[in-house]
Amino acid sequence: MTQRKRSLITGITGQDGSYLSEFLLEKGYEVHGIIRRSSSFNTDRIDHIYIDPHEEKARFFLHYGDLTDGTTLRRILEEIEPQEVYNLGAQSHVRVSFDSPEYTVDTVAMGTLRLLEAIRDYQHRTGNQVRFYQAGSSEMFGKVQEVPQKETTPFYPRSPYSCAKVYAHWQTINYRESYDLFACNGILFNHESPRRGETFVTRKITRAVARITAGLQKKIYLGNLDAKRDWGYAKDYVRAMWLMLQQEQPDDYVVATNETHSIREFLDIAFTHVGLTWQDYVEFDERYLRPAEVDLLIGDPSKTKEKLGWEPSVTFEELVKLMVDSDREALEKTKQLGNGFD
Ligand code: NAP
Ligand code: GDD
Repeated sequence: MTQRKRSLITGITGQDGSYLSEFLLEKGYEVHGIIRRSSSFNTDRIDHIYIDPHEEKARFFLHYGDLTDGTTLRRILEEIEPQEVYNLGAQSHVRVSFDSPEYTVDTVAMGTLRLLEAIRDYQHRTGNQVRFYQAGSSEMFGKVQEVPQKETTPFYPRSPYSCAKVYAHWQTINYRESYDLFACNGILFNHESPRRGETFVTRKITRAVARITAGLQKKIYLGNLDAKRDWGYAKDYVRAMWLMLQQEQPDDYVVATNETHSIREFLDIAFTHVGLTWQDYVEFDERYLRPAEVDLLIGDPSKTKEKLGWEPSVTFEELVKLMVDSDREALEKTKQLGNGFD
C-alpha cells in the first residue's frame, strides 16, 4: 500500500490555510497544521474539517507552535516527516505592521528563516526531500517599478511587513541555491473570500454592507479610497501554491488576475448589489491611512498560466458579490439564532 503524502501548513487557521487544507484533503493528503495557543478558540475557519484524531479516518491534525519558536518548529517537523511544507503563517496586516514592526518581522522574516533552517537540517540528517512553499506578496513591489508586475520586476517594499516578506523571499532562494532545497516563492496578489479577515478592506466593506442592510450599522469609516489592487479569489490561489510544488524544478511565480480596481470600484459594486449608494454611508477616518501607501498593484501571471496551467475562475465583480451575499447570509443565520440582535 502506498503511503499518503503528508503536508505541514503554518498559518492553517488563516484564510489561505483553511482553503489549502480542504484542497489537500481532497487530494488525499494527510494534513498537519501549526496553531497558536489562544485564550479563546481561533479555529473557526477549520472547525468544519476537524475530525477527532483518535478516529481511524482522521487525516487532519493540529499541533501547537509558533513561528517565533524555532525549537517547536523543529520538533513538529521531525515528528511529522512531511513531504511538503507550506509557510503561510504571518502577521499579515500591512497597517498593523507599522504599529508592531518587531513582532511582524520576527514572524514573517525570522519565522521563515527558522523554518528553512529546520528543514535544511532535517533533510540533511534523513535524506528525505521536503518541498517548501513560501507565501510571498505583491506588497513586495510596493512603489512599483514596472506595470504590470512580474517575477523579474524589482522590489520596492513600503512597510515593515513587505520588507520582511522580501527578506523571506530572498532567503528562500538562498536555501534553494545553497542546500539544493526544493523551495518556491509564490508572489501572490491580494486574494479574498468570505473567510477573509474582517479588518482587510474588502471584508470590512462586505460585512458593513450586510450590517447596514440589516439596520445594525449606519456608517463605515475607511482610509484611502484611491489605492488600486489586483483582487482574486483565495480558493483559486491555493491551487497555484500546490501546483508550484508539483513541478520538476523549484521556481518563483506571480499569481494574479492582471486586472486592477480601486477601493471606490469595490464599494460601488458592493453597495449597488444591495440597491444602495456607497457615498451615503462611507466616511473618512485618517486612522486607516498608512505612513507609506502602495498605490497601484497589477500582476502579470503569464508565467504561472503557461508553466502551471493555472487560471483564475472568479471575476472581480463575481468576487465582490459572493462576499456580500455570504456576509448577508451569515448575518441572517445569526438573526435566526437570536444572537447580536438586542
Ligand atoms: P491570515 O488570514 O492573516 O492568516 C495568517 C495565519 O498566520 C493565521 O493562521 C495566524 O494564526 C498565523 N500566524 C500569525 N502569527 C503567527 C505566528 N507568530 N506563528 C504562527 N502562526 C502565526 O492570512 P492569509 O490571508 O491566509 O495569508 C496567508 C499568507 O499569505 C500570509 O503569509 C500572508 O502574508 C500571505 N499573503 C496573503 C495575501 C492575501 O491577499 N491574502 C497575498 C499575498 C501574501 P491566528 O489565526 O492564530 O492569528
Ligand atoms: N485594511 C484597510 N482598512 N484598508 C483600507 C481601509 C481600511 O479601513 N481604507 C482604505 N484601505 C486601503 C489600504 O490603504 C490599502 O491601500 C487597500 O485598502 C488594501 O488594504 P488591505 O485590504 O488591508 O490589504 P493590503 O493590500 O494592504 O494587504 C493585503 O494584500 C497583500 C498582497 O498585496 C494583505 O492580505 C497582505 O497580507 C498581502 O500581502
